Amino acid sequence: MSASKTWQGNSTFILAAAGSAVGLGNIWKFPYMVGSNGGSAFVLIYLICILAIGLPVMASEILIGKYGRKSPVNSLKKISQEYELSHSWRYLGILGALAGVIILSYYSVFAGMAFSYIFNSFPPGLENPSNYSSKYFSDFSSSPGKLIFWHTLFLVSTCLIVGFGVIKGIGKSVNFLMPFLFIFIILISIYSSYVGDLKTTLRFLFSPDFSAITPKIVLSAMGQAFFSLSIGMGAIMAYGAYMPEKQLIGKTVLTIIFLDTFVAIAAGIAIFPIVFSNSSLNVTAGPGLLFETLPVAFYSLPYGNFFSIIFFLLISIAALSSSISLLEPFTAWMEEMKKYSRSIIVIFLGSLIWFLGLASIFSFNIWSDLKFFGLNFLELLDYLTNNLMLPAGGFLVVLLIGWFLPYDFVKQNLNLKEIYLKVFYFFLRYVCSGSIVLIFLYSIF
Ligand code: PHE
Repeated sequence: MSASKTWQGNSTFILAAAGSAVGLGNIWKFPYMVGSNGGSAFVLIYLICILAIGLPVMASEILIGKYGRKSPVNSLKKISQEYELSHSWRYLGILGALAGVIILSYYSVFAGMAFSYIFNSFPPGLENPSNYSSKYFSDFSSSPGKLIFWHTLFLVSTCLIVGFGVIKGIGKSVNFLMPFLFIFIILISIYSSYVGDLKTTLRFLFSPDFSAITPKIVLSAMGQAFFSLSIGMGAIMAYGAYMPEKQLIGKTVLTIIFLDTFVAIAAGIAIFPIVFSNSSLNVTAGPGLLFETLPVAFYSLPYGNFFSIIFFLLISIAALSSSISLLEPFTAWMEEMKKYSRSIIVIFLGSLIWFLGLASIFSFNIWSDLKFFGLNFLELLDYLTNNLMLPAGGFLVVLLIGWFLPYDFVKQNLNLKEIYLKVFYFFLRYVCSGSIVLIFLYSIF
C-alpha cells in the first residue's frame, strides 16, 4: 500500500477511530441504557467489559487491518492464506459487514432525529418545558413522514462521504470536529451539574449495587461496550488498514478507549442531573431520554437556543463520523471485487439500508404492536446486532489472534514491551474469550 493510502499523521488515525467510536452510542444510547438498566450496576459491568473485552478486541482488530491493508474480508483472507488457516475466516468479515449495514439502518433513524433537533427551538414563555419536550418527542416519533425525511437526509450524507472515500472524506474533518465535541460536552455537563441534581446523579451512576446485577444487565452492558467502541463488526479493522506503518497499536487503543468512555460518562453527567431535578422527566424514558431532557436544560439557559443548535449539530457530526465506519467495511469489500465503482456500490447499499430503516421507523408508530419474541422490529435489530452479532464477531477475532495464529504474529506486529505483550496475550486468550462465552451462557441460562 502506498503512503498516500494511509492517514496523514498519527493523530488522524486516532481521531478517525475515536470518531467512529464516539457517536450516538455514547451520547444517546449510553445514558438511556444506564437509565433503563438500573444505573450503577450497569455502569460497573460496562466499565469492566470495556477493559477486559473491549481493549483486547480492539487491539486485535487493528492488528488484522494494519497487517492485511485491505477490507476486513480480504485482510482476513490474506492472513488465513499466509498462515494456512481455513478460508472460512473471511466469513467473519462478511458477518461484520452485514452487521454494519443492519446497524446503520436504525442508527440513521436516530441520527436523523438528532439532525432535526438542530432546527427545533421551543417557543418562549413555556410554563412547563419538560412536559412540552416530552410531548414534542412523542409527536415527532409518531410521525412516519418526519422520521423518513430526516432518516433520508442523514443516510444520503453518510453515503456521500463514503462515496468519496474514507481518507478524503473524513481525514480532515475529524481533526477539528472531535476536539470541539469534547470541549462542548464537558461544558454542558458542568452546566447541568450546576443547575440540576448532581448528588443524585453521582449516586445513581457510581454507588455500586451488586444485588441489582442480572443476566440481562450483564449482556446489555457487554453489547453496549461492543457497540460503543465500534468493535466486533470490522469498522476499526477497516480503519486499521489505513494506519500509518510506524504508529503503535497499544497506545492508540488506550487513547481511543479513554476518549470513548470519557464522552459516555460526560453525557451521563450532562443528562441525569436535569432528569433528577424535573419531576416530569424519567430516567427510564428509553431511546427518547436525550431528546426529552437536554432541550429542557437548554431552555433555561441564557442563549439556550444557540447552545442547543451547536449541541445537536455536534451530535449529528459525531453520528456521521460513526455511520461512515458502519458502511465502510461492506463498501471496501465490494470495491475490491473490482466489478462496480465505489459510487454504484454506495447507492446500492444506501438504498437497501434506507428500506430497512423504514421498518425501524414504523416500529415507533404504525407497527408498534408488531412483536417478535416480545420485541418490536427496532428492538429486535438492536438485540440481534449488539447482543449477538458484535460479541460473536469479537469472539472470533479473539480466537483468531489468540488461538489460531502463532504467538509470533502478535509479537512481531504489536510492537509491545515483552511484559505488556505477555499480559495482553494472556488477557486475549483466557480472560477475554472466556468472559464473552461466560456472559453468553449466563444470559441464556
Ligand atoms: N460506536 C458508534 C457509536 O457509539 C456506533 C458504531 C458501532 C459504529 C459499530 C461503528 C461500528 O455511536
